[in-house]
This record gives sequence, C-alpha cells and structure tokens, in this order.
Amino acid sequence: MQAWVIGNWKQNPATKREVETLVTEIVTANNERSVNNSNTDSSHDKAKTCQLMLAPSCIHLSAVSSRLQDSSILCAAQDISAHSATVGAYTGDCSAQQVADAGATWTILGHSERRQYHQESNEILLAKLVCALEQKLGAVLCIGETQAQYDARDTIKVIDEQLQVVKQLLAQPIAKSMDLDHTLAEQLIIAYEPVWAIGTGKVPTVSEVSATHKHIKEQLASFASKLPAITVLYGGSVNADNADSFAASPVIDGALVGGASLKAESFLAIAKAFS
Ligand code: 13P
Repeated sequence: MQAWVIGNWKQNPATKREVETLVTEIVTANNERSVNNSNTDSSHDKAKTCQLMLAPSCIHLSAVSSRLQDSSILCAAQDISAHSATVGAYTGDCSAQQVADAGATWTILGHSERRQYHQESNEILLAKLVCALEQKLGAVLCIGETQAQYDARDTIKVIDEQLQVVKQLLAQPIAKSMDLDHTLAEQLIIAYEPVWAIGTGKVPTVSEVSATHKHIKEQLASFASKLPAITVLYGGSVNADNADSFAASPVIDGALVGGASLKAESFLAIAKAFS
C-alpha cells in the first residue's frame, strides 16, 4: 500500500512571504529526495513510494497549489462548506468547487479542532463528504478520542460512532453511483488522531495505534464487501524522531502531521521514514 504523509498547516504561517519560503523549501528538499531515491533504486530494491500532500489555510491555497504544480506534492484544503458544493449565500464559507478551482484535489474533514471549535457533527460531515465527492475532491476524514474518552477506555466506541458517517456516505446516491472497488477507496483516507496527542508531545504506543488502525480497517470492510482496504493514517505529535516507529507498523499507512510540517527538514524526515 502506498504511504501518505500530509502536512496540515492549520492557521499557519502568518504571511504570504513565509508561505512562499516554506513551500519552496519543501519542494526543493523533496526534489533532492526524489533524485536520491532514483539514484539508489534498483529493480531489487525499489523504495516504497510516499505521496506527500500539503494543506495550507484557504487564503494561501491558490499560491501553494500553483507552486506545487510542477512537483509530485498534492494540495488539500483544510475544510469545505457543508451547505453547498458550489456557490450560495454562506458568508465565510469556501465550497468544494472553489477549493478545487484554487488547485486543491483533496480536503481534510472533521479535524478535532473543527469538531471542537465549530461543533461539527456526523450530520455536517456527511454533507461535507457528499460535497467533496460531487466536486471530485478526495477527503481525509479525521477521527479520534479525547483524553477523557481514552482514560475511560472508550476509544473504540468513539471511533465507531465517528465512522458511522462513512456507512451513511455509502448509502448516498453519489457514493452508490461510484465504483466502490476503485474510485471511492481512492478518494477516502481516514486519519486517526487521538485529540490528546495533538500538539502535546504525548503519543500512544505504536501497538495501541496499530490495534486501533486494525479495528478501523475491519469496521470499514464490514460496511461494504466491495470496499477495498482504505488508507489509515496516524496523526498526533508525529515528528522526525518518532516517525520511524510508526512507519514500522504494517497497518499505519502514513501520517497527518501538524507542527512538524511547518519545517521542511522535519516534514521531509517524516516522509523519508514512510518511504
Ligand atoms: P501535531 O502534529 O502538531 O500534533 O498536529 C497533528 C494534527 O492535528 C494534524 O492534523
């Protein structure tokens, strides 16, 4: 399975200039990495490919996607409107059509910060998922438990509730019209991000994450027999030092990275761990 390393820049950096510097550093370092990989590749020793993706804030989407055009790195939005996939009277929202037009091919959805600060429910997320699919955007759906839920050993219960939105999505006309074998699985990624691990430096053990990922994959497989294995990423305090340990697990298909994606060096070190 191809690995994915996605940089979620959240509400960073502050200025256009800093965005330009960061994206240029990442593209340059990634080009060097690609050259090094192709120099060391042989037919017996093919490096596992790792798809990189950057999710800048909406205001920087056009600039970043233009800069990424000649690179292998994809561009994602951090969110889209639930109200309309196209246009309408929804002040402050950006639609799936608008972010696609700005150069995004994916969108993050249901990040815990959106769930916490914008009260995003499964109902809202279902509407957003449908909008994304209608505009042919891939969706990285984030799920994960809070510290209190982790302490109460409710992780599986919480993520099962959050995954219900995928089951509901499969019943929507847009999903029914898609080829489950290929198209939908290629347009959906799950990111397991325990809320208590985000930006805290605290991480679950690799065996805890692996057990949760195994469960997520089994749950998704139970929703539709034709649904092939869906990519499941881990997110929460992933950095250059711990990425290797997560990458060693066969059920951790990559990482959704916050803080460490704001420095080219650490972001590319994480990409290397998953390559
Ligand atoms: P950190 O890597 O900063 O913990 O953030 C993770 C995250 O929320 C990515 O979406």
